[in-house]
This record gives sequence, structure tokens and C-alpha cells, in this order.
Amino acid sequence: MAAGEPLVAVTCTAPVNIAVVKYWGKRDEELVLPINSSLSVTLHQDQLKATTTAAISRDFTSDRLWLNGKEEDAGQPRLQACLREIRRLARKRRSADDGEALPPSLSYKVHVASVNNFPTAAGLASSAAGYACLAYTLARVYGVEGELSEVARRGSGSACRSLYGGFVEWQMGERPDGRDSVARQLAPESHWPELRVLVLVVNAERKPTGSTAGMRASVETSALLRFRAESVVPARMAEMARCIRERDFPGFGQLTMRDSNQFHATCLDTFPPLCYLNDTSRRVIRLVHCFNAHHGQTKVAYTFDAGPNAVVFALEDAVDEFVAAVRHSFPPEPPGGEFLKGLPVRPVLLSDELRVALALDPAPGGIRHVIVTQVGPGPQVLDDSHLHLLGPDGLPKPAA
Ligand code: DP6
Repeated sequence: MAAGEPLVAVTCTAPVNIAVVKYWGKRDEELVLPINSSLSVTLHQDQLKATTTAAISRDFTSDRLWLNGKEEDAGQPRLQACLREIRRLARKRRSADDGEALPPSLSYKVHVASVNNFPTAAGLASSAAGYACLAYTLARVYGVEGELSEVARRGSGSACRSLYGGFVEWQMGERPDGRDSVARQLAPESHWPELRVLVLVVNAERKPTGSTAGMRASVETSALLRFRAESVVPARMAEMARCIRERDFPGFGQLTMRDSNQFHATCLDTFPPLCYLNDTSRRVIRLVHCFNAHHGQTKVAYTFDAGPNAVVFALEDAVDEFVAAVRHSFPPEPPGGEFLKGLPVRPVLLSDELRVALALDPAPGGIRHVIVTQVGPGPQVLDDSHLHLLGPDGLPKPAA
């Protein structure tokens, strides 16, 4: 890059979120407007996060994008839609400020580098964290304040929920232009400190149908999906918000499991059917129900997105025993590898009664590892320029 004008670079991080009332289906593909509202829990960035640096300079000749160190096509429609949207908001803001002249930086090309602190190969949905991080970072580069749902949503619908920490709802909105289809925080991450989240990363060979294509097929073919959106989700949103407000774990857990099951039922009702769960996923479902039956109450709850990995919610006091039950049902393979990541778990022995209650033949190696995490905050700006993923020349630093 020619010497003289320094580039403007900003680096931010953003979290992964897991829906407990699922988003599945768009009413407008272009604007990414959903057919129902959804509700999610933001996971802590100590375990799972995206980090993005965005830089603009007069000297850049084209938009460029690097994901986990590898250059990707910056012309991809979702990235370009996010850029168009943030530049529109920046222009709108400038013209509102006493008719101030538009800064030339609005027409500069942008370089973006993004990395995840968890392997993409783990099969965890990284697009929500990635696009929330992109929207948040671009907003700081272009000096845009306020609501960013519209920007993040253009990348991936669920990304707008990763703009906030704690417990978040994405209101579907009613307006055809989507201005009221926004995410908002229901409660901060400090609201329910005992809540823990376990990500059970399942060994799977096949890459499942992506969410965008899957939900399009469901909208076109599933009558059950329409029924769900119109007649089930509205009451479920209110009930889930109550369970969270009152920290009612059995209520929260049961509704989470029912909503995941109904989402997968709409997938099976899609034609041809979408089967995201595999044998290991179904074993986890059985394990959770056996565990809860043994205790006579809902101690743990599963949810599954468009893939076989399970996300399990539990209160802190149930984690050690549940992890022991997971180890018993899915003996780690190879033994001695790093099976547990994240927050510490105390080793406990399963009682004979629980062993009998689980009544499952062990499935060695079915689960690759378990990431133990908790509810966390929303996106953060990293002020230290040493943490930028792009160097002063606008290209990825060697480690990025
Ligand atoms: C099953 O947000 O990935 O995870 O908007 O097409 O990018 P696009 O879809 P995406 O869908 C997520 C679907 C889900 C449920 C959820 O997160 O609510």
C-alpha cells in the first residue's frame, strides 16, 4: 500500500447464540425477514467467539475477505448486502447531521479478516457470530450507532441475535420493509448465573443441508411449519420469556426440548425430508430423558439446530453428574484425548441406580468432545491495535 494515508482499522469480537425458540423460514428472502419470532441464549466468548478486523483505505483497490486465514470471494452476496446496508446507514446518519458533506471514506474499499476460536470443522454454526461481528465492526469503522439488526440479518438471520448478550428475542416484525424486524435483549447475562450450556460435538461424516436451502424447502412444502409459525410460536415466545424472567429451569428446559423437537418435526415434514439428527443425536435425546426420569424432574434439556450436535442446558449443580453420564454413554475415543473443554467439571462416579436407569449400550466415540460454557455478553471492541488481524499494509498478519 502506498505510504501516506494510514488505514482505519477496527477489531471486535462477537458471540455464538443458541435458539430455544427456533427461527426456521423466511417471508422475504431478500430482506431476510422470518415467518416467526425467535428467542436465544448468548454463549460466553471465553469458549466460542468470532473475531473480526475491518479496515478501509483510499489505497485499497477492491473489497477483500479472509476467513480463518484463507482468502474467500468478497463478492459473495451476503457480505456485499451487509456492506451496502452499513453504508446506507452511514449516509443516512451523515445527512441527518446538519447536511454535513459525505466523507470520501464511504466509497473506500474494505478489507475484512475473521477467525473463530473454535474449529469450523466442529460443525458449530459460526455464521451467526461471524456476521454479528462483521456488522458490529463495520459500524465502528463507518461511525454508525444504534440498531444493527438490519445489517447483521442480511448476513444470516440468526446473526441479529448475536448482537446482544444474555437472553435475546428477534421480533419478526410486521412491516414489509423489515424495519421492525429487530433483536432486543430480554435479560442480561448476569440474570441467571447458575445456567450452564454444554455443547456436545458429535462425530459426523456428512455435511448437512445448509439452513438457507433447508428453510426454503420447508416454507415451500411443510404445512406443519405454517401451523407452527402461526399457531404455536406466539404463545411459546411469551411462555419462554416468563420461564427466563422467573428462572424456572424445568419450564425453560421442557419448552426448549419441545421446540427443538417441533423444529425437527417440520424438517421431517419437508419434502423431500430434511434429517439433521443422527443416531448419536437420538441417543443424547434418550440419555437426557432417562437422566431426568431418574431424578424425577427436568435437570437437563437438549436442543439441536440444523446439524447433529447437541446443546444441553443445565443448572450448575447438575453438570458434573450429567457429564459423567455422557462419558459413560459415549466413552471417549481415543481414551485420554481432550474430551472436556471450557469450564471445569469435577469427576464424579455414577451411582448404580443411574447406570441402570440410563439403560443404554455405550457408543464409544459418538461424541468427540464437550465444551462447557455459560451465558455471556454481546460483542466487544478490542482497543489494542496489536490484536488487529490485518497489518498496516491491510493484509492478514502471519498468525491470523
Ligand atoms: C436452526 O440464521 O443460519 O439455527 O438466515 O438463512 O442464514 P439464514 O439462516 P440461519 O438459520 C438458523 C436456523 C437455526 C435456528 C435458529 O438459530 O433460530
